[in-house]
Amino acid sequence: MAAQRANTADAVIEAAADAPGASPSPRNVSAVAALPLQVATLPDPATARIAVIGLGYVGLPLAVGFGRASATLGFDIAPARIAELLERRDHTNEVSAAEIEAAARLHLSADEADLCDCDVFIVTVPTPIDDAKRPDLRPLEAASRAIGRHIRPGGIAIFESTVYPGATEEICVPIIARESGLTFNRDFFAGYSPERINPGDHVHRLESIVKVTSGSTPAAAAFVDALYRRVVGAGTFPASSIRVAEAAKVIENTQRDLNIALVNELALICHRLGIDTGEVLEAAGSKWNFLPFRPGLVGGHCIGVDPYYLTHKAQQLGYHPEVILSGRRINDGMGQYIAQRVIKLMVQRRIQAAEARVLILGLAFKENCPDLRNTRVIDVIAELRSYDVAVDVFDPWVDAAQARHEYALELIDEPAAGRYDAVVLAVAHREFVALGVERIRAFGKPGSVLFDVKQILPRSAVDDRL
Ligand SMILES: NC(=O)c1ccc[n+]([C@@H]2O[C@H](COP(=O)([O-])OP(=O)(O)OC[C@H]3O[C@@H](n4cnc5c(N)ncnc54)[C@H](O)[C@@H]3O)[C@@H](O)[C@H]2O)c1
Repeated sequence: MAAQRANTADAVIEAAADAPGASPSPRNVSAVAALPLQVATLPDPATARIAVIGLGYVGLPLAVGFGRASATLGFDIAPARIAELLERRDHTNEVSAAEIEAAARLHLSADEADLCDCDVFIVTVPTPIDDAKRPDLRPLEAASRAIGRHIRPGGIAIFESTVYPGATEEICVPIIARESGLTFNRDFFAGYSPERINPGDHVHRLESIVKVTSGSTPAAAAFVDALYRRVVGAGTFPASSIRVAEAAKVIENTQRDLNIALVNELALICHRLGIDTGEVLEAAGSKWNFLPFRPGLVGGHCIGVDPYYLTHKAQQLGYHPEVILSGRRINDGMGQYIAQRVIKLMVQRRIQAAEARVLILGLAFKENCPDLRNTRVIDVIAELRSYDVAVDVFDPWVDAAQARHEYALELIDEPAAGRYDAVVLAVAHREFVALGVERIRAFGKPGSVLFDVKQILPRSAVDDRL
């Protein structure tokens, strides 16, 4: 660290001020005055050594993308994650063994000390919310501390994790400056480039999605843009500032959340009207500018979480968002609502809830993906159980041990035919679509209820749908 600090005039002042006895001696002061206040030079994007911190759904594809052409360190605090990747296995299913293999310049490590050789630190750690739905910035703060321990003059920290506008410069940068003793925008720089990948989507990939870039100075912004252009074939969109880029990301997901909330509210109204939501949406969709959103559960760690980052910041600024939070309330209530519709259908058939057994098809937060984080299927299960209904959950995509660990839920290996009083088709995995209505119905007893949350079966073949 002493060697790093000696590169800057500020570091000399700080070193002198830090010394026992406090204030700098006249000799030190004149030495400082003689040093030019130089802005450190950013590395060349073509030769910069890159660290990707956090190798999850976002970080791994990025590390593999950079690791094809640039010296790249893929760092994760979870040794188990590094161990599986060293065996060319990715439990998130985002990257194949061949793609990991092809990243010839990628080095994988759980040892933080390896960060010391890097010039660029790209942060892709989780940004969840706590039980009170407030941003939980602990992983981001921990990653910033790690960067601060290893960054050198000319280094740059680029954040990809979804945050509220201002978080990079208000939270992360001061941590890096404090840990490193370096001065922001003179010795080290920052950038923000939000990720837009969509788990389970093998069409919209890192390379094919335009990427927003930004930097803390014009030179840093140009560096960040040039760096990403090396791996993103679709090109970049340079934003005017880090805050603009942060806000752009969070509004993308907030807009999606609100659009789904609108059709979810429509579903609540259509049910009272006794008309089918799907038919209404199909008819409305015949207009050229009607947006094709469908009702459903809004889970995962993006769409159901990111709006809370924006509302948190707005509240800090004294503005109390109404539209965004009312959309969140509607979407967060859909699991309970679906369960109550199923209970009502069973009661109408004289099926006693306390004696009923319900099969839930799907636990993942979305179709054709093993991701369980913040799945709202859990709300359907909890509400059914509150009526003493016995619930079996089947999901061929999900890791049973993870379901046990995250939700204390035992998945069944295979649903038995003729066993259930109701079947809830909760996630549109391709396996369920392929089963078709006859085989799905065969899981139920005669007279059982079939509820289609995802509107994947013909309306006439199910008892009800959202
Ligand atoms: N998954 C998506 O679809 C998606 C899309 C766009 C943006 N994002 C955002 O990207 C960020 C990362 O999401 P994700 O889905 O990749 O998360 P993830 O949970 O899949 O992966 C995060 C990884 O970071 C590691 N990690 C946690 N703290 C760390 C630390 N201090 N140092 C090093 N590694 C650490 C974890 O072990 C884990 O492997 C979040 O902010 C998320 O909102 C996600």
